[in-house]
Amino acid sequence: LLPNDLQGCRILVTAGPTREEVDPVRYITNYSSGKMGYAIAEAAAKRGATVTLVTGPTSLQVPDGVKCVPVSSAEEMRSAVLNNFTATDVVIKAAAVADYRPAERGANKLKKKEDELVLRLEKNPDILAELGAQKGERILIGFAAETERLLAHAAEKLQKKNLDMIVANDVSAEGAGFDVDTNIVRFLFADGRVDELELMKKEQVALRLLDQVEKLWKAKQQ
Ligand code: PMT
Repeated sequence: LLPNDLQGCRILVTAGPTREEVDPVRYITNYSSGKMGYAIAEAAAKRGATVTLVTGPTSLQVPDGVKCVPVSSAEEMRSAVLNNFTATDVVIKAAAVADYRPAERGANKLKKKEDELVLRLEKNPDILAELGAQKGERILIGFAAETERLLAHAAEKLQKKNLDMIVANDVSAEGAGFDVDTNIVRFLFADGRVDELELMKKEQVALRLLDQVEKLWKAKQQ
């Protein structure tokens, strides 16, 4: 049985990948399954929080008691997150947002060319950085998916995006990251603390993360 320690806390979770359309039949995406974000949403709801889940396309079932806002592209995720931001105390961004999208979306299916095809990409908005710039009294938690210099890169994102905490995820490690049931993460906090977790199920990572959320949230209320 889980404690009801997040009662009254409004949590916005993002999960899954985004899809950036090339034409009506093709898109660019990544390997995110949504498992990490859904595990957080489910555990938060079980611990009494009011949970909104903004999710890219996944094959997962929406957990009981969670309000779900399905989106596809990074632009759509941005709108959904901003629409729900005012009535939120804590944001947890587990989604793997595409950093780039095709600069032009073909209205029709691209025809095969004689030779190579060059696809020009333009930058997507950084949703989390935007939230960081207007966070007010809210608590912002990001994820950092890295394949090298894990702590340095995660610490940089924590600081640049004005976060309270970041979950550093070495996605090249066995049993960690995209599309597996387990994860290996470290929590980095704005005050410099680092908490290193061993390999565990994503459900367990979610609970450990929410223990930190509960502390940060209670501290804000004092
Ligand atoms: O979904 P699973 O299969 O369970 O896999 C889990 C996971 C590997 C996707 C997850 O644990 C994870 O690491 N999520 C973050 C992936 C990511 O996009 O990391 P990033 O380092 O590129 O982004 C840093 C942070 O900024 C993230 O919180 C991201 O949501 C956010 N971001 C990034 C780009 C962008 N344009 N807007 C954003 O808000």
